[in-house]
Formats: sequence, C-alpha cells, structure tokens
Amino acid sequence: MAFPKNFLWGGATAANQCEGAYLEDGKGLSVPDMLLGGDVNTPRTFCPTITEGVFYPSHDAIDMYHRYKEDVALFAEMGFTCYRFSINWSRIFPNGDDAQPNEAGLKFYDNLIDECKKHGIEPLITLCHYEIPFEIVKKYHGFYNRKTIDLFIKYVTTCFNRWKDKVKYWLTFNEINMTIMAKSIGNLYGVGIIQDEDLNRDAPCKFNELKDVLQERIQALHNEFVASARAVIEGHKINPDFMIGNMICHVTKYPLTPNPKDMLETQRIDHLFNDLCGDVQVRGAYPYFAKKLYQDMGIDTAFMDNEEDKKILREGTVDFYTFSYYMSNCVTVDENAVAINDSMIGGAKNPYLKASDWGWQIDPDGLRWTLNKLASRYPDTPLMVVENGFGAFDKVEDDGAIHDDYRISYFREHIRALGEAVNDGVNLIGYTTWGPIDLVSAGTGQYAKRYGFIYVNRHDDGTGDFSRSRKDSFFWYKKVIASNGEDLD
Ligand code: BG6
Repeated sequence: MAFPKNFLWGGATAANQCEGAYLEDGKGLSVPDMLLGGDVNTPRTFCPTITEGVFYPSHDAIDMYHRYKEDVALFAEMGFTCYRFSINWSRIFPNGDDAQPNEAGLKFYDNLIDECKKHGIEPLITLCHYEIPFEIVKKYHGFYNRKTIDLFIKYVTTCFNRWKDKVKYWLTFNEINMTIMAKSIGNLYGVGIIQDEDLNRDAPCKFNELKDVLQERIQALHNEFVASARAVIEGHKINPDFMIGNMICHVTKYPLTPNPKDMLETQRIDHLFNDLCGDVQVRGAYPYFAKKLYQDMGIDTAFMDNEEDKKILREGTVDFYTFSYYMSNCVTVDENAVAINDSMIGGAKNPYLKASDWGWQIDPDGLRWTLNKLASRYPDTPLMVVENGFGAFDKVEDDGAIHDDYRISYFREHIRALGEAVNDGVNLIGYTTWGPIDLVSAGTGQYAKRYGFIYVNRHDDGTGDFSRSRKDSFFWYKKVIASNGEDLD
C-alpha cells in the first residue's frame, strides 16, 4: 500500500466543539452557544437567549482555549503533520458587522497557528464550521441576506491577510451540503436562518421544531456558494499559493433493492445531497440536473440566473475537494423499509452493515467506492478526507486505561480503504480523523459520543476536570502515521 510521501496525516476539530471560553477576550455569541445538549433520541434545544445556571455544552466545551498547547503537543506526539481546526467567526467579528476585528480573538489564533508550526504541523483552517455569529442570524437571517456575503468576505480576508505567510490550506464552509440534507442543522448551523417568530419565543424549543422555509434555505445556500467563490478569488489575490477547498458531507447512497425505481431515486438523492454542491464549487456552475431537481421540489430557481453570480462561481472554483465520510445508507421508494434511527441523515438500513450506537452504519468499502467516484467526477482536483471517525461510549478502567479496540478497528478498515483507493489511482493528499480528542458532538451536543484518541474527563452533566489521557487508539494511530499508513495491525 503506497500513500504518497508527503501525505498529510492528522485530525480535525471545530472551534465551537472544543474551545469553550465562549465569551472570553471579546468573543460574541455564535449559533452553537444557543443550544442545549440532547441524545440519539432527543434533538438539541434552541434557546433564543442565554439563561444563567443552564448547561450549554459549547460554553466550556473541552476548554481547548486554555489548553491548546497541551493538545497540540499530544497531536505532535502522535506524529500529526496536519491539524484541521476552525476559526470561530464570532471571536474575530463578535457582532458579525463590527467595523474592526477583535485583536484578542486574532491573537488566540496567532498562538494556535504558531504552536502547530513549532511542532511541524501544517494548519488546515475551516473558515466557517457551523459558527455564524448569532447577531448575524438575528439581524440578517444569516446567508439568506446577501449582506452576509460581504460580512463573510470581510471576515475571511482579515484571516487571509493575517496568516498569509503561515497558513496554506483553507476550507470555506464545513459540510455546505448539510443545508440541503438536514433541515435543522442546515437551516440554523449551515446558513444561519431563524425566523422572527422563533427568535421571539418565550421558551426554548427543540432544534427540529424551528420553522423552516425550504425556498429561503436553498437561496441562502446559493449565497454561500457565491461567498465561497468570492473567498477563493480574494484569497488567491492575497496569496496565489493558497490551496482553498470546499467541504462536503458525503453520505454514500446505495439503492436498497435492484428495483429500477430504487436506482432512479438513489441517483436523484445522490445528485441532490452529494453532487450538486461539489459540482458548483469544483466546476464553477450549477450542474445540468440542478434546475429541474429544485423545481420538482417547488423551488423558484430565479436566483440561479443572476449573471454576476454566474461569473463569480466560474472564477472562484476550489483548488481541492474535501469531504467528511462516516457512513453510507440506502435509498428506496418503499415507504415501509426499515429506517435508520438518525433524524438528521435518515435513509434506509443496509442489511449487510453494522452500525454505531448512534445508528451510523460502518462501511469502509463505501469510502473506497466514494473516493473512486469523486476521482472520476473531478479528475483534475486533489481530494482529501477531512473527517472520518467513530463516535462511541468509552469506559475508563480502574487503572485509567481506555481499551477502545472498536475505534481502532473502525479506523483500521477505513485507512485500509484509503490505501486501496490510492492504489486504484485516486489523487488523495491527506486524511484528518474527526475528533482526535473527545469533544462536544455537533448533532447531539453530547460529550458521551466520544471520537478521540485522547480522552477528556468531561461529562454530559457538566462534571469533570477536563484532564486529558491517552486511549489505546492513541498509540495505534501513532504507529500508523509513523509507517505512513503501512502498519495497521
Ligand atoms: C460532521 C461535522 O458532520 O460530523 C462535525 O462537521 C461533527 O462538526 C461530526 O461533529 C460528527 O457528528 P456528531 O453529530 O457526532 O458530532
């Protein structure tokens, strides 16, 4: 198995899921700061205002804001050559539309980037990982308002200029297609739309009960495409050597049966959920199927005909395609098929696959298949897997050890699949696992859904001293990186 010599190995996190310090050094509120935790059967709760004494997981998260030196040192000990993290927009522009950036917020990321560089770790920065400043959501309804595009460009050019000589790899929006795939996450996390009636509620409400207007969500997604393309254009003016990528949540789709109707429906869902966003961002235009697909869903597609936007999309194509891969699921027209118990992603159960305790189906071969699909769809574009991981309950033994062989086995099979795809000829430049350190789950807000090679002593009831310890998988991943993916035993 031959991974390329300079293959990037590492892990990925998001600011809101690990930093904590939610109001420190001038930071403003951001969307996840307004959410309570849930679990696999209970959606998260949205609170229009913060209530004292209530436990909001992002407010302390895993306290990385104060512990980043220890954490980066642990990443370095595993041999990371790349660390993907996000910048929390509301640290830089606390209200989203401030005239000047917040110097203390910038300074935190100066330090984090320098710490990575000190250890020979290449930073890969996500500019917007479900972290729109809450003030933008309140004042402008997020990306539904085109003014937010300008606010985003001001924010990203501030980042590009600040770190133009230190950071080469950037991603614009995390999982941009989540806006189409998952109503609640797409609406609030993704494009930051919340209707006035929900903002003015007296009491908190379940995340999935927030009002959703599909037309607005899809138009806001279009505005994100324009924002992303403009970011690529501006970024390349600031440093032509920047590698600026997109990021897609690729949930791979299989027809549940050989019924041709299932095949057709699978193609439709694949086009809508997986292909549309990638095509716009890599090829610079909506794909041939987009208009009809949207119109069949009752969407007025007039926004697709804006000539100025078309030009921006054409000029702002990404330098590399990145995606998250956790699972696959099945598609069928049979309404009685057994559904996956995951309200966000949905789909039908695959009888050949096992699933995590959160219902996410484990499918390493699907990763190889997906990499090959993407390589043939975008033959001139390097690919990178920037999230892949296994959320699980971990048990701490009396001696403090954590024997997470289930996690090792998940990664072993997925890294094997990566190697097979590379051998197939796929141009894969790197791999960052999701959650190299335990953090707050985006979907459920839980700590108990643990992804890390590094355990964090913090729990869903708000107890725990945030101390870090190495799981068995820590030593295993270290070996994998040291052997450039050869030694998976
Ligand atoms: C991706 C997101 O969807 O999956 C991450 O980019 C998220 O932010 C990860 O944490 C895992 O999902 P979850 O819901 O288990 O945290």
